[in-house]
Amino acid sequence: MQNSLDSIKSLYRNPVTPGSLFLSIEGIEGSGKSTQIKEIEKTVQEKGLRVLTLREPGGTTFGEKLREAILNSETPLHPLAECHLFLASRAQLLKEKILPFLLQPGSVVILDRYIDSTLAYQGKARRLGYQTVLTLHQFDPLNLLPHRTYFLDIELETSFERQKIRGNVKDYFESQKQEFYQNLIDGYRELSELFPERILKLNAQKSIQEVTNLIKNDLETLLP
Ligand SMILES: Nc1ncnc2c1ncn2[C@@H]1O[C@H](COP(=O)(O)OP(=O)(O)O)[C@@H](O)[C@H]1O
Ligand SMILES: [Mg+2]
Repeated sequence: MQNSLDSIKSLYRNPVTPGSLFLSIEGIEGSGKSTQIKEIEKTVQEKGLRVLTLREPGGTTFGEKLREAILNSETPLHPLAECHLFLASRAQLLKEKILPFLLQPGSVVILDRYIDSTLAYQGKARRLGYQTVLTLHQFDPLNLLPHRTYFLDIELETSFERQKIRGNVKDYFESQKQEFYQNLIDGYRELSELFPERILKLNAQKSIQEVTNLIKNDLETLLP
């Protein structure tokens, strides 16, 4: 499996505009993605760079409709149906928002979930396999990988505790079983080993400030 994964991985490209940066942030519900994105935005803006934050699925008019279709689905969707919906949303987001923004030097795009969510959810937890999901991403523009992905790693219990405090209504994914969530965590951890040069796994059990500092230290090495 490793060899065929390597050959697919070699097809991926990073954004090439000098001085632009493409970041994604990943992790299960309650891992702190929204919290840390606000901190990254502040850091980037203080450096005088332009920042665009987007969420997946959604971010475009078409994508928000797909988001509704996926998250409020009353019937269980086939994993391949789910996967294609996410990819349709992603391709549109790349064309309409991500690529035009990154073409301008000094631009930073932050994605709240991106390819690794599809790999963890549909590839691992819904059992399509990483290779299938990666293969579906091999065509332009879906083959664009972030320069850096921050994976906020927390334990299952922490996710439930933080979601309880937040008091969110459960959506399609949040009502799934504990085993599903554990598979997601395992998937993200495997992915951080498959893509060690891109994905930075952070212990997000630590305080908000500590996690922010870890991200800031890494950003210093990436920012122009
Ligand atoms: N490192 C942390 N330690 C303790 N609580 C946190 C931490 N990071 C986030 N939280 C809290 O957990 C909840 C979920 O955080 P949020 O950023 O919305 O996560 P996500 O966007 O990944 O679902 C919020 O109430 C937030 O204040
Ligand atoms: Mg969030």
